[in-house]
Amino acid sequence: MIRSRLVLVCLALSALATTAIARPIAESCGNGIVRFHASAAARDAMPPSLCLIEPLIATGPAPADWRIHPEFTRVKGRPSVHIPIPEGTDLYGTGEVPGPLRRNDTQVIAWNFDAYGWDERTPHLYQSHPWVLALRPDGTSFGVLADTSHRCRIDLTDGIRITLQGPQFPVIIVEGDTPQDVVRTLGRLTGTMPLPPLWALGYHQCRYSYTPDDRVREVADEFRARGLPCDVMWLDIDYMDEYRCFTFHPLDFPDPKGLTDELHAEGFHVISIIDPGIKIDPNYHVYTTGQARDAWVKTRDGRDYVGHVWPGACVFPDFTRADTRDWWAGLYGDFLAYGIDGVWNDMNEPAVFNVDSKTMALDNRHRADPELGGPAPHARYHNVYGMLMARATWEGCLQARPERRPFVLSRANHLGGQRYAACWTGDNTANWSHVDMSISQVLNLGLSGQPFSGPDIGGFCGPGNGKQFARWMGFGALLPFARGHTGKGNVDKEPWSFGPGVEETCRLALERRYRLLPHLYTLMREAAETGLPPARPLFFTDATDPRLRSADDAFLLGDGLLVSCNTSSGRAPEPVLPDGVWRAFSLVDGDGADLDLPVLMLGEGHVLPVGPIMQWSGERPLDELELVVCLDEDGRAEGILYEDAGDGYGYRDGEYRVTRYTVRQRGGLTVVTSDVIEGNWAQAKRPLTVRILTEDGERRAEGTEDEAITIRR
Ligand code: GLC
Repeated sequence: MIRSRLVLVCLALSALATTAIARPIAESCGNGIVRFHASAAARDAMPPSLCLIEPLIATGPAPADWRIHPEFTRVKGRPSVHIPIPEGTDLYGTGEVPGPLRRNDTQVIAWNFDAYGWDERTPHLYQSHPWVLALRPDGTSFGVLADTSHRCRIDLTDGIRITLQGPQFPVIIVEGDTPQDVVRTLGRLTGTMPLPPLWALGYHQCRYSYTPDDRVREVADEFRARGLPCDVMWLDIDYMDEYRCFTFHPLDFPDPKGLTDELHAEGFHVISIIDPGIKIDPNYHVYTTGQARDAWVKTRDGRDYVGHVWPGACVFPDFTRADTRDWWAGLYGDFLAYGIDGVWNDMNEPAVFNVDSKTMALDNRHRADPELGGPAPHARYHNVYGMLMARATWEGCLQARPERRPFVLSRANHLGGQRYAACWTGDNTANWSHVDMSISQVLNLGLSGQPFSGPDIGGFCGPGNGKQFARWMGFGALLPFARGHTGKGNVDKEPWSFGPGVEETCRLALERRYRLLPHLYTLMREAAETGLPPARPLFFTDATDPRLRSADDAFLLGDGLLVSCNTSSGRAPEPVLPDGVWRAFSLVDGDGADLDLPVLMLGEGHVLPVGPIMQWSGERPLDELELVVCLDEDGRAEGILYEDAGDGYGYRDGEYRVTRYTVRQRGGLTVVTSDVIEGNWAQAKRPLTVRILTEDGERRAEGTEDEAITIRR
């Protein structure tokens, strides 16, 4: 008896223990990329990847000097991979995660989840990015991509360990001389975000919900009357008729086209929310046409799965099928014709209210197309449900208006989903910890392939206070996606809601964003081309400097513009600055004296092109430009500016211009020249103001862009 118990205990212990799997297979898949399989059998059984933009072709064995060799094991019977890391290696990425920028000693579960009111301890937020970026002490870098859509735990408490609830998975390791190299390779592997329309880089104003339509008008008018820049007004779920997607409430929004016409006339764009839960209602065209296509996710025994969301009992489109995605895409034609400019996909984890798991049953059936891997339970497709919804939405917008660039915002997404949608970090809370986390979240998303993200500025849950709002807006207005939003029943959170002092800080913050729009757009173009995010961690300036590796109260916009923020209620801490000269400068009158605004600094060797203040991005053409310059010790500086029509696809036929601004100091002369280095647009002849930042102030000069400007000392 005792013996058999002992045997049982031993058996149980060995099942718990980590068991190594012999002989992983390593395949070279291009320069600096090796894919590992646990075994030949695992390689042969590998399903199609749901995050890569195209299948990876193996070209031979791993290079002989390849440094990272994952150990495939089983932990408690589950497939697991362990990658030991050299002492002093810092870890980043893992997508949308709460907490600090540096991820060592953290654990996260890649599982898309309706994380309403999340905090530092929430194990999974709305998106899943099974991807870790590692930075060695010498500044070289590698990335680890677990090529799986299944729920997995990413444990960074002892090296990198990824353990899956699902079948064996391949691991792709990317090597680079710098973290930027690795992030660019991630962009090549999983795709980059297509260039968004310029207006999407403006400021966005949302709340749950502006209703009825007059309230939308009132808020929009208020922005213009108060001279607060804003590009987009958002319609949250109450514009719908009893939460039926693609409909408008007959009493509260009786004339949607009239509303969008008025908003467009004031320079606003309009974005509306669309959720995946479709109300079961035989008199509702989305339900009946979806029903006719047999479009819904099924239960394990083949019935339509029903879950409760805002409208009550709902069915859910099975976005794993091209047929369903086509039908869904087709719904946008009539909808966008109301003058809707962009789409907000929410609740697409998918969120389900009436179950403890907060999502649909894992054994639900998706009748997926063969190129995704064919029919399988929800467990395989859960983490990509939101991404596939965003894909169908993106395709629908493009189909409806091929001459315009789609803009989609999605709450749920997966590694690679930047190809279809930008993201915000969900239902955050108005407290200082969330103010602080907004920066690291955006940075880690950027290091995980998603360049276009931002928090609900002001906080979705809880009232917060004026000081907090001012500081949040101060730097939130400079994050790639800048949107104010708050929840139903919460206090108002428009820029003027906390009184004149806070409003003035918000005005300065927004005016700064609009002055920086040309630069942000240039960075978005770089993101679209290379995968490098606009908002970057300080360690991008010097990956060997240990001081910069945990710095997350500051971020870079591009390479040379540093934004040093105060994310606390007290005085700003002394900023950690990269080596070299960083000069603080003002962008709008009064911004230097406002302690709630972040400090802007330009690094040596950089030229920052900035535009005039506008009330919305299309208010006027970029017909004057200022160059802010910080010379390096050799008296040199450079910067570039990307321009095109701001929407549409003419840029693909050369209708764009990249101008390089070069500043050289020789003897007592400083010469500023502009050269078009790419694109077919002729050189501009705009008035140009040059501001050379110096130790004791700045020197200014005026000229035009088509001639060299010479400044005498
Ligand atoms: C979800 C979203 C939130 C939205 C609300 C109503 O909670 O995260 O942003 O306002 O739904 O649509």
